This record gives sequence, structure tokens and C-alpha cells, in this order.
Amino acid sequence: MIIVLVFVLGFVPLSLGMTALASFLVYAVYTVPIILFDNITNWQIFINNNIFLLSFAFGGFAWRYYNNRLLLNKLSLEYDLEKSRNELRLYSERLEELVNERTRELKKSETMLKSLFEKANDTIILTDPEGRITNVNSKVKEQYGYEKEELIGQNILVLEKEQDNRLFLERYHRLLNGESLVYETTHVAKDGSPVHVDVSASAVTLEDGRVVQFIVRNITEKKRLQAQLLHAQRMESLGTLTGGIAHDFNNLLTSIVGYTDLILAEDSIPIELIPKMRIIETSARKATQIVNKLLNFAKRGKELEIVPFNVNDVIHEALDLAHRRFRADITLELKLKQNLPIIKGDVALMEQCTLNLILNAIDAMPEGGTLEIETELVNIDSNFDKPVGPDLKEGPYIRVTFRDTGIGIPSDKIDRIFDPFFTTKGPDKGTGLGLAMVYGIIKEHGGYINVESELGKGTTFEIYLPASQMVMPGLKPTLDSLRTTGRILVIDDEVPVLEFFKNTLLQEGMNVVVFNDPYAAYEYFKENKHLVELIISDIMMPNIDGKKLITGFRDISRNIKIIAMSGIKEAFADIEADGYLFKPIKREFILEEIKKVMSSPDRSC
Ligand SMILES: Nc1ncnc2c1ncn2[C@@H]1O[C@H](COP(=O)(O)OP(=O)(O)OP(=O)(O)O)[C@@H](O)[C@H]1O
Ligand SMILES: [Mg+2]
Repeated sequence: MIIVLVFVLGFVPLSLGMTALASFLVYAVYTVPIILFDNITNWQIFINNNIFLLSFAFGGFAWRYYNNRLLLNKLSLEYDLEKSRNELRLYSERLEELVNERTRELKKSETMLKSLFEKANDTIILTDPEGRITNVNSKVKEQYGYEKEELIGQNILVLEKEQDNRLFLERYHRLLNGESLVYETTHVAKDGSPVHVDVSASAVTLEDGRVVQFIVRNITEKKRLQAQLLHAQRMESLGTLTGGIAHDFNNLLTSIVGYTDLILAEDSIPIELIPKMRIIETSARKATQIVNKLLNFAKRGKELEIVPFNVNDVIHEALDLAHRRFRADITLELKLKQNLPIIKGDVALMEQCTLNLILNAIDAMPEGGTLEIETELVNIDSNFDKPVGPDLKEGPYIRVTFRDTGIGIPSDKIDRIFDPFFTTKGPDKGTGLGLAMVYGIIKEHGGYINVESELGKGTTFEIYLPASQMVMPGLKPTLDSLRTTGRILVIDDEVPVLEFFKNTLLQEGMNVVVFNDPYAAYEYFKENKHLVELIISDIMMPNIDGKKLITGFRDISRNIKIIAMSGIKEAFADIEADGYLFKPIKREFILEEIKKVMSSPDRSC
């Protein structure tokens, strides 16, 4: 029992000292009464028993000690493990923090780079070594009209003009060899228009390979301004040069014309000399006209006669003067704004300018076409979206636009059209002074002239003239509601009546074709019935019955609108027309009747 107790104590997880004390007490309880009260008969057995007992106790202690060490080791290991775990946790927290911080920094610098890339004022294009576009910023849309996605994956050659490909490939090769290049070139936008650009390019090596970077700046506007300035300077020096010569010639011509007049006034002049003198006089007067145009260009003509006028009236006057040159295949469209502020200037000169622009447009449409003349009030300020001269002051301007659908002007000639004596017309057809004069006159009036042209499509001239605050109603207001799109055929055997109709209708911006032969009119209508909107016909002409003529027109087109004309009211009795005009005819009556007939429903309705 004692053995078991001592042995067990060795295993009790008390401290070693406590275990030793407890074992000693148990041993003492067993041994001391035996020594004190028992009579030990066999010491040998007693000692053996004690040794046996102590050995057990010692074994117990050894076991206990060993266990204790094991426990301690385990505890110490657990402690170390926990400590390491804590350290590890700390490290991982720190690492996480560090990673977060780095990610934030990376994100920040990525956002910064992205916004630098995206928001750059220039187009930035990245390509791989094969020239394929790998990235491009959104500026590309504004500069070239392409969406980003459209370009990515395409070869950068898509932006180059075809004839420049070889030059570009050579540059690309140099870039890949490590050179940095800065050059000026012309690219092509999506719509095919040229884009003048400054390019700064270099190749960089990134983790995933070599990248060529192009920073492309649009300098189209800068180039245009430069060209404009150069042109203005050139015109200025041309003006000085021609002005000087024209001035001297003008004096010489004044003497020639003056003395020719004086000689012709002499009674004693031999009769056979008179025709020769007349030739000298006519030639001198023609030369004076040319010199006057030159002087107008060079701003060295006579003083301007400044008066307030309405620009629409000037256009009507010029159209009046040009009416003989309007052919049937030319449609005139007038878009004249009413109640425009007045312009102060020289009306006669302004008429000359307008006339030249109208005649030029007619000449540019040998196959027919449309001339559109538009007037409107515009305000020029820093946001004005059309190109105007650099020295045009800000403020209200009247813009007169002449838009034709003619042959257009080749780009290599457009810079020269305002030069004096530049003409593409034959020697007897044009002097090449028209636009030079227009340029000088418009400039003299504080205005600006702009031209845009596309070969084969047409040309647009825009004139800007400073507007005043005052409004002056036009003398010949355009009846907007009267405007027709098709042609009006006028048939009368009397030429003056036809002339009157032509002038009146042309002034209203209508497209008019006149005939004094009804049979020719009939044939014309048969060929062009889709182009004709209205027929105004005399019904009392020789060799043709008015009623039959109108029935003939109706047979060709049942819905054609017809106004019958006659000096005898009774003649209208059996005529079935849409309107009637009684001669003598006044302008207002014509317009009123046309208005009435054109706004009436079609016969088929
Ligand atoms: N609307 C237009 N369309 C096409 N080309 C034009 C147009 N207007 C002018 N041009 C070109 O500009 C040139 C110069 O015009 P400009 O009016 O100065 O002289 P011109 O018409 O040839 O001669 P002039 O006016 O003395 O009769 C013309 O010969 C023509 O080639
Ligand atoms: Mg001309």
C-alpha cells in the first residue's frame, strides 16, 4: 500500500518539493513506528524492504522528474509556438498594411498615369514593334474622328497618307533603333480630310516588350492662321505693287481719254480719222475699267461713297444685272433674312462685288447647278466656329454666302484666286481682276472674305461685313411663302413681257425659263416635266390656240399648275386654268397670283 502511494506520488503533478515532502511523510509514517515500537527481528529484511521502498520512491521521483521535464518542454514549446504565432501574425499584419499601402500608391500612380494619358491635350498612340496600335487616348476622336476601339488593333499606317507610307516606315525603323523623332506631317482623318500634325515619337521598353509612343498635336488651325497671315501679307505687297502701277496708268489713261475727247470735239479733224480715234477712245475706256478694278483691289481708288444700305437690295440689284447670264439649267435659291441691320458702305462697289461672285458661280456651272445666296446676321466672338480673318474685330456682322454646285477650285489654285490677273477663263473671257477687286473692297469695308471649295462639288464664298445697330427694311422684300423649288415656264410672244417676268421672278429667287415660241415651250415641257412646277402662258398668241396649248400641257402632266394670261378678259371664258392674269400686268399681281396658285391643292387631291 505504501509502495503504491509513494509510487503514485511520483506521478502526481505537484511540484517536485511537494512530492518529495509528501513521500517523506508517507515513508516516515511507515518507518518511524516500526523503529520505535516494533521489535525488529530481522534487520536484513527490514533494510531490504526499506531499500525496496526507497528504490520505488526514487523511481517514482525519477519518473516524476522526467515527466516534469517533458511537461516543461511541452509548455515551453507551446509558449514558443504561441510567441512565434503572435510574431507571425504581427508580421503578416504589417505585411498586409505594407501591401495595402503599396497597392494604394500603385493605384494612385496608375490613376495619375491614366488621367495624364486620357486627359492629355494631344493624341497619344502606342504601337507594338509591328506597328499595331495597342492603345490610344480619347483625344483621337476629336482629332481624327475615330473611336478608340476602332483604332486599337489596326496598323498605325491607317492614319498616314498613302503616298507618305515609305517615309513613315523609314521613320518607324529609326524609332525602333532607339532614335527619338520630332517631325511635322499630314495625317488623314476618318472622313478623309487632312489633319496637319506635329509628332513627337520614341520607343520605350516595358515589361511586356517594346512600345513605340507617338504624341501627336493637331496644328491644322495654326497652319491655317499662318497661311491666312501669309496670304494677307502677300495681298498687301501685291496691292502696293499693282496700286503704284495702276495709279500711274490711271493718270496716263486720263490724258489719253481726255485728249481723244478734245480731238474728237475739234471741227477741223479729218473725217477718216474719226473711226480710228473712236477705237483709241474705246480701248482707253476699257483700259480705264481694268485700272479701276486694280485700284479697287489696291485700295487706292477714289474715296468711298459711304451710305447706309440693306444688303438684300444690293443682291437684288446684282441679280438684275446678271439676269441675262442665268441659263435655264441654273437654279437660284435666295435665302435672304428680313430685317437685317444696315451696312454702311459704297453701294456701287458692293454691287460690283456681288455681281462678280454671281457671274463666277454661273461660269463655274457649265453643266447647270444651283446657286444659293444667303444673308444672315452673325455675331463674331472668340467662340465663333467659322474661319475669319485674324484682324476682324468682334461684333455683329452680316454674312453673305454664295454657294454654288459648280466645278470647284483645285487646292493648288485656291490660294491664288484673289491674285490680280489670276484667271482660268480664256483670254477674252476673264481678266482675273474680279476677285482681286472683291478682296480689296471687302477689306476696305472692314470685312472679310472666306472661300471653301471641293473639286467637282462646288464652291462657297462667305463675305462678312460689319453690321450697324440700325435696321432698314429692304426695298424689295422677298416673299418667303412664294419661294418655289421647281422651274416656272413663262410663254408669251412679246419679248418685253418675257423680260419683265424674268426680272420679277428672278428677283424673288425663282427659277424661271421663258419662251416666246409656244411650240418650243411645249417640247421643253415634254422633256422636263418633272422639273417644272408652274406654267404661265399667254393664251392669245398667233399660230396657236390657247385652249389647245393648255390641254396639251395637261396631257403631258395632269397636275401641272397653269396660269393663263390675256389682255382680253373674255378670252378666259373657256380656259380651264388654276389662275388668271389680266394684262397689263403689275409685279404685285403676278406674285399674288403665283402665291395663290402654288398654295392651292393639287388637281388630283
Ligand atoms: N465660284 C467659283 N467656282 C470655281 N472657280 C472659281 C469661282 N470663282 C472664281 N473662281 C476661279 O477664280 C478665278 C479668278 O476669278 P476672278 O473673278 O478674279 O476672275 P475671272 O472671273 O476669271 O475674271 P473676271 O472676273 O475679270 O471676269 C476664276 O478664273 C476661276 O478660276
Ligand atoms: Mg470673275
